[in-house]
Amino acid sequence: MTGENEIMPRHVAVIMDGNGRWAVERGLDRTEGHRQGRYAARRFMRAADDRGIEAVSLYAFSTENWARPDSEVSALMELIETALVAELAELTSGNVQLRVSGRRTELPEPLQRALRTAEEATAENDGMYLNLCVNYGGQVEIVDAAKSIAKKVQAGELSVDDIDEQEFGRHLYVPELPPVDLLIRPGGDLRVSNFLLWQIAYAEFYVMEDYWPDFQPEHLDAAIEDYRRRQRRFGGLALEE
Ligand code: IPE
Ligand code: IPE
Ligand code: MG
Repeated sequence: MTGENEIMPRHVAVIMDGNGRWAVERGLDRTEGHRQGRYAARRFMRAADDRGIEAVSLYAFSTENWARPDSEVSALMELIETALVAELAELTSGNVQLRVSGRRTELPEPLQRALRTAEEATAENDGMYLNLCVNYGGQVEIVDAAKSIAKKVQAGELSVDDIDEQEFGRHLYVPELPPVDLLIRPGGDLRVSNFLLWQIAYAEFYVMEDYWPDFQPEHLDAAIEDYRRRQRRFGGLALEE
């Protein structure tokens, strides 16, 4: 059995990496790479939508990215805000529901507002989820879920014995999302970098050597084709031929 099938991943997550290297290799400022990365994200969204993918998670800024120079951090914050405002019409007409993962209260006010506006404007859409991960850390998400559960227990609304994977999952930033099926990382690095630690429990990894600004729909097709050749066992045994 080759494991080949026509199954489409329901939830595709992307670590949008390699913007800086893309720019530096061209003698440009790193922020130019981020600017181009924005258009790559748009190409990705369109391609994912065309292929019928239900949910997309995009890693735009990690809880560790604050360690970068102030100028790069503020350029990123402004860029995410600008992109959200500019893409809102397309999200709306494309029936995309925007959801946000991350510690948003630590973000600059204008960005928080743009996130809120886009969430509200797309709340009734039901075509595809876009889970935008900003100031996102997988460990912090788990800590925040644990705190939210602890508060429920403290208030007498939940008993400790009722805490299981399902209950825990209800306290994640966007509980409605299905688990990640396919995790794509451009830029060639073989690591998770604190992305969706809970949700990727059984995700299939696909690393591409090209940098994120060079993303084209063909990359997604190659990733899906590779995914379809994988045999997902979820801890069980391979199915009989
Ligand atoms: C990813 O690109 C974008 C963010 C982390 C915000 P990088 O900026 O990490 O690009 P490289 O990895 O340095 O090339
Ligand atoms: C992961 O990329 C974060 C985002 C793409 C937003 P990084 O460039 O920050 O990850 P590391 O530092 O290579 O692990
Ligand atoms: Mg990087």
